[in-house]
Amino acid sequence: MSPSTSRPAILISRSLPAEAIARARSRAEVDVNEVDAPLPRTELIRRLQGRQGLVCLISDAIDEELLAACPDLKVASNVAVGFNNIDVAAATRHGVVVTNTPDVLTETTADFAWTLLMAIARRVVEADRYVRDGKFKQWEYLLLLGGDIYGKTLGIVGFGRIGRAMARRAQGFGMRVLYQDAVAADPATERELRASRTDIATLLKESDFVTLHTPLLPETRHLINAQSLKTMKKTAYLVNASRGPVVDEAALAHALKEGWIAGAGIDVFEEEPTVHPSLMGLANVVLAPHIASASSDTRLQMANLAVDNCLAVLEGRSPPTPVNAEALARRSPGAGAD
Ligand code: DGY
Repeated sequence: MSPSTSRPAILISRSLPAEAIARARSRAEVDVNEVDAPLPRTELIRRLQGRQGLVCLISDAIDEELLAACPDLKVASNVAVGFNNIDVAAATRHGVVVTNTPDVLTETTADFAWTLLMAIARRVVEADRYVRDGKFKQWEYLLLLGGDIYGKTLGIVGFGRIGRAMARRAQGFGMRVLYQDAVAADPATERELRASRTDIATLLKESDFVTLHTPLLPETRHLINAQSLKTMKKTAYLVNASRGPVVDEAALAHALKEGWIAGAGIDVFEEEPTVHPSLMGLANVVLAPHIASASSDTRLQMANLAVDNCLAVLEGRSPPTPVNAEALARRSPGAGAD
């Protein structure tokens, strides 16, 4: 169907909650990929012809080649807080506004990172398997001994919204909180969260739990590698609900196998959906398919926010959560609705 000229035309690259699609349809001509799988790249480019808005997912690579091939595009609205699937510098060069979905997923993501932390320390997945396998014949004193959480030290790498939400949860567990971030939190926040800033080496050395909440940047790629894993306590646990490539997965598998650390809870992988084969056979790692923000309420809020961002740009308004304000500044009011 050729898009109408009176209302902006949007492509939603992958199935979203019906409420969010209806929200978009109330103000735009909307093409939706109804299949819950990424559109093949050529198809994505083809369906973006003549469309000004794209609501996309982390499984869509929005790069220079795509941007050059889609000259009508004015906004790429990611349904995620992370946007490493989008070449933001290229988008800015092409005058394409990029938006993301912060805030609405903070608590849900922290809940899940905390779930992984508890699951690996208290061996919940192993325990479940033990019972299902019919091995629970009698109560045993030394069965499935895990690590304590209460009163331990939590090291948070990346002290943004989600990192701070982890620090809040740590209060209830009487934990000492260390954090590492390029930017120091203000003293009031540090006091409120009883968190101390430290360097990464100290954090790795002193923490019983290391949880990663940093964006994927050139400087955070393989931040956790063989050397950092060796620095951690043998009794420590690693949690990653940020981005897979922040951890060198082969080094992690080796560390878990050799007992350099006690365990890991991992929601994100270097080459999703592929998981390093050595991780698959290990009992001391809990694996999840990138679902930290996956509650029904939060996924709906993310989709609605992404639609609102997209419509705002196309209607000449400021989007609620822009990523590249410089591209936005270059757009004159009303410029999007042509
Ligand atoms: C995000 O929002 O960046 C998550 O990883 C995907 O929901």
